[in-house]
Amino acid sequence: MNAFLMRIALAAALTLAGAASAQDGEGSAPNGEALYQTHCAACHQSEGQGLGTFPALVDNAFVLGDEHELVDLVLHGRAAMPAFAGTLDDAEVSAVLTHVRSAWGNDAEAIDEALVSDVRGDGEEPEPVEVDLPDDWFELGEEAYLQSCAACHQASGVGIPGAFPAVAANPFVTGNADELLRLLLHGRAGMPAFGDNLDNDTIALIASYVRNAWDNEAHLVDAAMVEVVRGGGDLELDPTTPTFRPGAGN
Ligand code: HEC
Ligand code: HEC
Repeated sequence: MNAFLMRIALAAALTLAGAASAQDGEGSAPNGEALYQTHCAACHQSEGQGLGTFPALVDNAFVLGDEHELVDLVLHGRAAMPAFAGTLDDAEVSAVLTHVRSAWGNDAEAIDEALVSDVRGDGEEPEPVEVDLPDDWFELGEEAYLQSCAACHQASGVGIPGAFPAVAANPFVTGNADELLRLLLHGRAGMPAFGDNLDNDTIALIASYVRNAWDNEAHLVDAAMVEVVRGGGDLELDPTTPTFRPGAGN
């Protein structure tokens, strides 16, 4: 809805909700009662009593409970409950939820505009990280894996039970890249160290390959990242960080 239409809708709702608008002296501050009647009442009903599949918001533990989850639901929706992130701004979500939490005998604290802004921020896609890898990183990684790793972990990544752990469907492999790189560089128990035999480019290719071969899926690793870990540093990358995937057209 554009700002002009929103204002017309608000004005109409304000007329209906005369009592509520009277206590809102500041004309520009969003009016929670009016917003509720405009955006929520069609389903949850004007007194929050609910109807059929539309849950009552009166005396509802979810409504009165965790503020973060409540804001998250209204911003992002759930099943037949629409998402309002694109319709209501932070001040409006704060106002409508503060109203819902204090109307009809409900008695829970106001929802702060800053909290809405925080929760909205959480939902943003993280920026993909650039990695410096050749377009055919997957094929090159596979080649290097077959040469250095497959004798123990097998070409299919399933390992040999009791002797060599699987690297397919293994959360260690798709988890924190720092730990995987430390293991490849320095070894552990029966797992040989490759830090002296393989250069950073090859270790990056193998790590990127095992993190994405079979049904594995995790961010890619390049030589600069290997160098950081080789030097004792940390990448500080979340395992779910997306990376640009060379050769995939992104
Ligand atoms: C088109 C109908 C519709 C509209 C409009 C709507 N809701 Fe909902 N809402 C639902 C449905 C359906 C559910 C149940 C979702 C589910 O199945 O989990 C729901 C669930 C909820 C819940 C969770 C209740 C619980 O017990 O888990 C809250 C809180 C809520 N809505 C608040 C709002 C607010 C605030 C607005 C207005 C900004 C709004 N809804 C607008 C349909 C609607
Ligand atoms: C000589 C056999 C051998 C070779 C070659 C080998 N590994 Fe290993 N690898 C092992 C063994 C044994 C372990 C289990 C170490 C332990 O007990 O902690 C292991 C552990 C691992 C783990 C950890 C699994 C987990 O769940 O903790 C990964 C990942 C791994 N190897 C990857 C590789 C990669 C990639 C290569 C090639 C660069 C490679 N390995 C080469 C024997 C080998």
